[in-house]
Formats: sequence, C-alpha cells, structure tokens
Amino acid sequence: MHLNNYKNRLYGRTKGRSNKKIDIENYSELIQKFSVSKLDNNKSYILDIGSGYGETSVFFASLYKKDTIIACDKYINGNFNLVNQIQKKNITNIRLHSGNVIDILENNKKKKFFSLVSIFFPDPWPKKKHYKRRLISKSFLEILHPFIKNKGRICIVTDSISYSRSIINCIYSTKLYYWSNQKTQYIDVKNYYNVETKYYKKAIISGRKPILFILTKI
Ligand SMILES: C[S@@+](CC[C@H](N)C(=O)[O-])C[C@H]1O[C@@H](n2cnc3c(N)ncnc32)[C@H](O)[C@@H]1O
Repeated sequence: MHLNNYKNRLYGRTKGRSNKKIDIENYSELIQKFSVSKLDNNKSYILDIGSGYGETSVFFASLYKKDTIIACDKYINGNFNLVNQIQKKNITNIRLHSGNVIDILENNKKKKFFSLVSIFFPDPWPKKKHYKRRLISKSFLEILHPFIKNKGRICIVTDSISYSRSIINCIYSTKLYYWSNQKTQYIDVKNYYNVETKYYKKAIISGRKPILFILTKI
C-alpha cells in the first residue's frame, strides 16, 4: 500500500473527561516549543505512536539517549502531562506531534528514520463494525516499512485478544517483518520494557494479560 492512497482518520478522545478547562492558547504555545514536523536525515528516531500520557516516551528517552523520541498523540491532557515531565526532568530528546502519526510520515517521505516504532495499547475498537478503525493493519505495516532502519523494530503491546489475532494475521500476510519474540509473547511486557502506562495499569487491574509483539524488519 502506498502512503498516498492510505486513509486513516484519528478516532477517539482529544480531551479528558474532567471538567477542568483547558487553555487551548496556552496549550498550542507550550506544544509549539517541543513540536516537530520535519525530521533530520542525519538523526536516529524512535516513533512513539499513541503516546497517551507520555510514559513510554519518557522511558525510551532515558533508555536510548542517542535517539530522539517523536511522541504522537492528539490527546491534550496526555500531551500536557508529557510536556510537564520533559520540563521537570530536563529531557532534551523528546519532540511532540499533537496529531495523527500519518502527518509525520507524509512530511518525511520514505527515509529510514526510525530504529524503533512503539505502539503501546493501540485503541482496541472491540466491536466488529469498528475493526476498520484499528491503527494496525496490513497496509499500515507496509507503510511503516520504508521508514524503519535495517533491523529496526516495531513493538506493539495489546491486551485485546481479537486485536492480537488480527496483528498475527497482518504479520504473516505482509511478510516484511520477522516476529522476533514469538516464543515469549506472553512474558510480562515489563521484562522487556520496564514501564507502566495508564493502559498497562488498567489491563492489570482488570486481570487482562498484555501481549507483546516485537517485529524486526526483514
Ligand atoms: C488506548 S490509548 C493508549 C495510550 C498509551 N500508549 C498507554 O498505553 O496508556 C491509545 C492512544 O492512541 C492515540 N492514537 C490513536 N490513533 C492514533 C494515530 N493515528 N496517531 C497518533 N495517535 C493515535 C489515541 O489518541 C490514544 O491516546
């Protein structure tokens, strides 16, 4: 699938449920300071898709200090939290895109920028009629492929059984990635990535076991 033909709307929540008013002007100004659109050909990046409250971005920024993390999410409350963390911890290697990850791909066509693409708890869209809203599809894995460095990885974590099944189908039908942790998919995600995101905690509280997929570019 070619990026030009790929249509992906970003569904879901932009703001949290609380009545706390968000100062959009202040938000835009704050986000602007950390935002990114064009990537630098000489740098190595980690793409954190659906960064939520930013836990994974902060985690990867400290684990991979030489890489720059691109945190992508339209979720305002989450982005506010991430920017607070960046400022509080003086983190210098996180940039933000407050919107759809597709914008980043469209603005930086087909260069091998990413050593890692992280997708922690993509929205599961559990109803069959909403499956087509899911981010991870055969087409999406094909579109990401040229942007990933040789032997680079995509790591996906989900606690949805039906999404897992569909991800496995996508891996086998694209034939572009090697499922490198197939034998250890049910091992606690934290054995690989010692980070607890909001949706990781939700899964554990509800007794659901997150599954980890590590796909290595062939
Ligand atoms: C279920 S939440 C998970 C958040 C976080 N990763 C976690 O584990 O707590 C999924 C997030 O993905 C974001 N998202 C969905 N599609 C996206 C896209 N195309 N580009 C960027 N973010 C996206 C949503 O806005 C939402 O905040």
